[in-house]
Amino acid sequence: MFEHLREDIASVLERDPAARSRWEVLTCYPGVHALCLHRLAHAAWRHGWCVLGRFISACGRFLTGIEIHPAAVIGRRVFIDHGMGVVIGETAVVGDECTIYQGVTLGGTSLYRNTKRHPTLGKGVVVGAGAQVLGGLEVGDGARIGSNAVVIRPVGAGQTAVGNPAHIVGTGRGSGQGDEGADVRSEFAAYGVTCDANDPLAQALHALLDHAVDTDRRLQQVVNRLEAAGIEFDSAVAAEDDFNASELSRMMD
Ligand SMILES: CC(C)(COP(=O)(O)OP(=O)(O)OC[C@H]1O[C@@H](n2cnc3c(N)ncnc32)[C@H](O)[C@@H]1OP(=O)(O)O)[C@@H](O)C(=O)NCCC(=O)NCCS
Repeated sequence: MFEHLREDIASVLERDPAARSRWEVLTCYPGVHALCLHRLAHAAWRHGWCVLGRFISACGRFLTGIEIHPAAVIGRRVFIDHGMGVVIGETAVVGDECTIYQGVTLGGTSLYRNTKRHPTLGKGVVVGAGAQVLGGLEVGDGARIGSNAVVIRPVGAGQTAVGNPAHIVGTGRGSGQGDEGADVRSEFAAYGVTCDANDPLAQALHALLDHAVDTDRRLQQVVNRLEAAGIEFDSAVAAEDDFNASELSRMMD
């Protein structure tokens, strides 16, 4: 129990840039409180004390705004950030190191009992604020679900799904190519975005690089056309340099 709590606190400190100390996380993070209560509720449920499990779950919802069905299976080092409005259904499975933001529903779309009605999240999945993941589908390891997405189809490992209905976007980590089994913990980026995505300095550097590449390409086109017209580029530049030098000395005189 305490080992799980220690892990929960460590994972919050690792993944929330706003978290400052263990004490702050222990006392002020409803996601941590909800997971502690869920462990009690889940244990009661597994012992057949279903009403007790439901009661603990209801207390957890009252105290934290996070509703986790006592039968749901939640992995280790899961981080529910802010938490208010999160609903995790009865047959949902949440893998280790997943991050879930406020307003997320891991919900069902069928009313049949004893069927897998809720989603299964793999390891290290990030589910953005307000996203709805509906049905007994699978979301692969390291996948990212954009805020307010409505996911009704499976999402592959490492893929990024956004929109309503959700569709896959992006490449790289989001492509799912060859990154299965990657150490999702070390790759975690707060809010599911790449570290420098909104850094103005990085954006300015990228814009400058794009501009330099574009200028090179256009210059090369000019050189090609000059050469096609029979003008030797190097000699043209040398002639221009001579002209500039003589013009400069004339002006200085
Ligand atoms: C989905 C997400 C992980 C993608 O991050 P990213 O890899 O940096 O992706 P980008 O910002 O490059 O966006 C890729 C494309 O998806 C679109 N997109 C990104 N997030 C989206 C969203 N939530 N809904 C709809 N489209 C979205 C972008 O407009 C872009 O589209 P384009 O290629 O047509 O321009 C991120 O945008 C996100 O939603 N994270 C959750 C953040 C969150 O919930 N924070 C709450 C903190 S309290």
